[in-house]
Amino acid sequence: MKGVILAGGTGTRLYPLTRLINKHLLPVGSHPMVCYGIERLRQAGVTDILIIIGKQSAGLYTDFFGSGEKYGVNLTYRVQETAGGIAEALELAAGFIHHKEKFVVLLGDNLFLDDLTPFVEKFKHQPTGSARVLLKLVDDPRRYGVPVFDAAHPQLIAYIEEKPKKPKSKYSVTGIYMYDDAVFDKIKEISRSARGELEITDVNNLYARSGMLEYNVLQLWWGDAGTFDSLQEAGIHMRGVLP
Ligand code: DAU
Repeated sequence: MKGVILAGGTGTRLYPLTRLINKHLLPVGSHPMVCYGIERLRQAGVTDILIIIGKQSAGLYTDFFGSGEKYGVNLTYRVQETAGGIAEALELAAGFIHHKEKFVVLLGDNLFLDDLTPFVEKFKHQPTGSARVLLKLVDDPRRYGVPVFDAAHPQLIAYIEEKPKKPKSKYSVTGIYMYDDAVFDKIKEISRSARGELEITDVNNLYARSGMLEYNVLQLWWGDAGTFDSLQEAGIHMRGVLP
């Protein structure tokens, strides 16, 4: 199975730091943020990885990671010219994924302690054309995509609400998604949201509405490091995770 890490976007919530350097290269513990995602994929046996980067700091990625050999992975890079949304960034992976090939997607600012291996194994046995997302129980889901479960089929998500004011569950949809190449047709079906982006939640809802969105729940710490508070928190939790 292949992996795709999305590390484009502008990181405006971390200005002025992200005026200097791309968000996913900011320090978390003693490593740049994106190292942890690479390691979680490698740990799950996913070693062929595409990183979607923005134009900002593009050269620093190759300076730091090179081919990926030192990290036990094989890295390919693609540039997302403007930050048009998570699903737009994902679309750039179309040439990297073969017909009916399954793959794991990580948002580059998501940091977590769970080993992905059992979830990847479950997804390997799922029907072609379906998808899986990983959830996390959180105190305040309003910052995230929030799943509503299918009452008749509790292993399925009925739909996801993006950053709802009144969340219908206590879970967040994390930035850990599993698809096959059918996702690229789904991205073609969605339109830009009010904020002008192609939203991953709209893509996931196409799966959910046809009864094709399964999930697992992360058990250990998870966070997205998109704000100063969450970046600081991530630094504490991830300290010592990588040598
Ligand atoms: O972290 C989990 C949340 O991530 C989910 O619960 C939400 O459903 C999902 O929409 C997303 O929400 P955010 O508002 O936190 O997404 P953000 O715009 O911060 O983008 C997250 C990552 O996606 C970012 O670190 C890099 C990548 N990205 C984002 C955009 C907008 C790209 O690669 N290109 C882009 O154009």
